[in-house]
Amino acid sequence: MSGPWVDKYRPRRLRDIVGQQKAVHDLLRWAEEWKKGRPKKRAALVYGPPGTGKSAAVAALANDMGWDLIEMNAGDKRTLSEIRRVAGSAAGSGTLFSGTKGRRLVVLDEADNIHGTADRGGYRALKELLEETQNPLVLIANDQFAIPWDIRMACAWINFRRLTTEAIVKELTRICRAEGISADPRVLNIIAETANGDMRCAITDLQTTATGKKRLGPSDLALYRRDRELSVYDFLNKVLSSESAKEARAALWSLDMPPEDVLAWIDENVPKIVADPKSRADVYDAISRADVFLGRARRGQLYGLWGYAGDLMSAGVALSRGKNLRHIKFVSPSHIRHFARTRADRAMRDSVAKKIASRCHASTKVVRRDVMPYLGVILKHDKKAAERITEELELTDAESKFLKALG
Ligand SMILES: Nc1ncnc2c1ncn2[C@@H]1O[C@H](COP(=O)(O)OP(=O)(O)O)[C@@H](O)[C@H]1O
Ligand SMILES: [Mg+2]
Repeated sequence: MSGPWVDKYRPRRLRDIVGQQKAVHDLLRWAEEWKKGRPKKRAALVYGPPGTGKSAAVAALANDMGWDLIEMNAGDKRTLSEIRRVAGSAAGSGTLFSGTKGRRLVVLDEADNIHGTADRGGYRALKELLEETQNPLVLIANDQFAIPWDIRMACAWINFRRLTTEAIVKELTRICRAEGISADPRVLNIIAETANGDMRCAITDLQTTATGKKRLGPSDLALYRRDRELSVYDFLNKVLSSESAKEARAALWSLDMPPEDVLAWIDENVPKIVADPKSRADVYDAISRADVFLGRARRGQLYGLWGYAGDLMSAGVALSRGKNLRHIKFVSPSHIRHFARTRADRAMRDSVAKKIASRCHASTKVVRRDVMPYLGVILKHDKKAAERITEELELTDAESKFLKALG
């Protein structure tokens, strides 16, 4: 074990921060001002959602500038007088440590949680500190509006945004390379999408899924997601009860079921339960659009579209269902078939795996896990390739039908 990957792969330099060009640029520009003297905006307010690189970027800034870093947690009662002591001392007096650039970067993390908010004492002290500090000061907050207006106005604003799926995938890819893990891009994409803009969450999920592995395929993800599995009934109940898009979406992501099947369950059940005709029409609309996105995602291998489809079938349905609901028992969609359930299916699965394994010089276990799902997708969607593969592997009709059903 090597400890948490979020620490191991923490960005050390500003150039290691991904997906926050504007914020990093603004932060650097503010810091450069301090090189010329004591600027009007002594403090920077770094704000944005959790896990987007705020703390990491501020530490990296100190590193890049050659400044000593003094981090304080705003929740601590003694903090403010302590900060005043440290930050208020004259410029040019050098640093506490060996640095010679004459600056300390004083960081007040969780500044939206300053002790003494109730009586405003904490913020009054902070205001005075902003006036008198001789050193660059950074306030970090998730919610900029939790900080009083006059303090906000005295700061340079640096906004960190929710990271895009692409930016997260980029970082996950880098980490996998460094760990010597060969990861299926699809898996990284799903982890990234699930994290919803939060890199800390994505890296932690990656570590949970990939630790001790050299290869990362779709079935590893299934295993990890099963830990937090919801039944499809729980999911439907969530969609019918949740008041927020976020909640409905989270329920979908913790469901271990192919999106097409989830959509079939929704399609079979939700419209019957929604009593109001207008709402029912809206629900159908969300379902049909989810279906269109799913089709496109599959055909074009555009896995990013899964996200839209998922949003439509979870949040889209939840927000259009209205309040007028009937009590009807959920039923299983008629056309979902369960494969690899019966003994005959298992026998079929093993015979196909054996055939492929002997051609690919891989174990049947690896073939079942990493090869068969893809072959299924290929056989199902690419007629030409299907012919070639069927011939090459000498698959019987029944075997190729079985593989297609996996895709
Ligand atoms: N933009 C980013 N680029 C690279 N890594 C990031 C980024 N944002 C977060 N991380 C990773 O997530 C961890 C937590 O980030 P952190 O800066 O503490 O988030 P925040 O302070 O915004 O909550 C970091 O150690 C790093 O591994
Ligand atoms: Mg932080």
